[in-house]
Amino acid sequence: MFYAMESQNDNNMKYFTRKMVAPKDLNSNGTLFGGRVLDWIDEEAYIYCSCQLNNDRVVTRKIGSIDFNHSAIRGDIIEIGMETVNFGTTSITVRCHVRNKRTEQVITSVEQIVFVNLGPDGKPAPHGVTKCK
Ligand SMILES: CC(C)(COP(=O)(O)OP(=O)(O)OC[C@H]1O[C@@H](n2cnc3c(N)ncnc32)[C@H](O)[C@@H]1OP(=O)(O)O)[C@@H](O)C(=O)NCCC(=O)NCCS
Repeated sequence: MFYAMESQNDNNMKYFTRKMVAPKDLNSNGTLFGGRVLDWIDEEAYIYCSCQLNNDRVVTRKIGSIDFNHSAIRGDIIEIGMETVNFGTTSITVRCHVRNKRTEQVITSVEQIVFVNLGPDGKPAPHGVTKCK
């Protein structure tokens, strides 16, 4: 089974986005730069949360601990998955898995990413969403 070892809690994870590792994404070791992965995660989480809450005014409040378990090299295809963990009153909590399609390894898992729904005044506002789309 594809990703069998690292996908046991992956059933509800939705992989909408793929990225190709390009020369601009590499660190001095010639492997994927961690900062680039964080950039991809934050953008993907923004898109996911914005769609879930139907509001383009959502901001990152927290990104939980990040452990880079594996890396990637130039030309690898990276898949980014998102899953809702919890709907709060003004917040949404999601988890994220980033995996390497070629090696089938999980590059990193972030178990807690919190976005806050803002109103027109830029302050936290109840989103009223309780179920995933
Ligand atoms: C997001 C922001 C508007 C929230 O304002 P705030 O006064 O802290 O809001 P609150 O204390 O009412 O918290 C809002 C929600 O976030 C949750 N929250 C706040 N801090 C949290 C934390 N450290 N961990 C998990 N959840 C947290 C609260 O539980 C609440 O959720 P709920 O309404 O679903 O219960 C404000 O912190 C901010 O502007 N932060 C910077 C955001 C930003 O610019 N991000 C981009 C990177 S710079």
